[in-house]
Amino acid sequence: MRETVHVPLGERAYDVVIGPGLLVEAGALIAPFLPRPQVAVVTESRVAALHLEAFKAGLAAQGIGCTVLELPPGEATKGWAHLAQVTEWLLDQKVERRDVVVALGGGVIGDLVGFAAAILRRGVRFVQVPTSLLAQVDSSVGGKTGINTAQGKNLAGAFHQPSLVLADTEVLGTLSPRDFLAGYGEVMKYGLLGDAVFFHWLEENAAAMAAGDMALRVRAVKRSVEMKAEIVTRDETEQGDRALLNLGHTFCHALEAATGYSDRLLHGEGVAIGCSLAFALSARMGLVSQEEPSRVRAHLQAMGMKSDLSDIPGDLPSADALLNLMGQDKKVVAGRLNFVLARGIGDAFVTGDVTPEMVLDVLRAHGG
Ligand code: GLY
Repeated sequence: MRETVHVPLGERAYDVVIGPGLLVEAGALIAPFLPRPQVAVVTESRVAALHLEAFKAGLAAQGIGCTVLELPPGEATKGWAHLAQVTEWLLDQKVERRDVVVALGGGVIGDLVGFAAAILRRGVRFVQVPTSLLAQVDSSVGGKTGINTAQGKNLAGAFHQPSLVLADTEVLGTLSPRDFLAGYGEVMKYGLLGDAVFFHWLEENAAAMAAGDMALRVRAVKRSVEMKAEIVTRDETEQGDRALLNLGHTFCHALEAATGYSDRLLHGEGVAIGCSLAFALSARMGLVSQEEPSRVRAHLQAMGMKSDLSDIPGDLPSADALLNLMGQDKKVVAGRLNFVLARGIGDAFVTGDVTPEMVLDVLRAHGG
């Protein structure tokens, strides 16, 4: 049940290996990258409690030693203080230019450790071992690394591709149903933005996948990674097409800001609602028929996911205030809001031709 997706970026090319049981085989898979049998592993305490022993045993089986830094879990870890801590810890471990740093965890750890690897000695290699569905299908692939600042999320960072990604689909079994479904928001996004057949497959199979079917999980992660790899290969540094991956994200970032980046709304939940609203906006602009947003919403509801503003617990700011928060998004170019809209399921495109009135209409129609 093992799959490999190659990301063909010339001298920065790498493989994403997907399947159950990869943690215990990590040593054999990482060994070819090592100039000496030693790695520095950065993880967080929740992931460490669940997976660190298996990972260390996999390294030890190949005679690879490791030192481990455990950080606190949660988004607050992804800031300057922990970037400094990780970087200085790696220096204390005497990590050299050819050594490999391992990021074992979800998106927070992958983004933070990837950024530390990018700046350490002007760039050391790193391996992503993503443990959340969101990290497996999105953040561990494509080389975006970074941290949050007081001004917003992911505002300091670097493009730094990993040398290898090991997506062990067995570890997804330790996620809470809510975290799994939040990651599923990003899986569904791939179908919506570029593969109608995949979206249809998800309509048929995603419930069984969420219930634990491993073959379906491998297939869904593989197709998502293939799509991400294809887009990143076309546009590594987001000069154009890579922005398609931001389907649903302009709405999502405003909603995350409005809910204080709290437990009220997980990022993947915001993406799911954002996709639903992006299709509603596409219908409002006459690009798709009303059936398309209805189909997106129906799928989210069938999966037991949030699909609308009213599904977010607690009060939200007004539609005008949400629109204002979209203006803070880093996808603003020359003061214009950039949106990813669709001409149909599986056919997304990027546009700056959205007026504030249309966005307000859609937010108001969906409870904003
Ligand atoms: N998560 C969006 C990207 O990697 O471009």
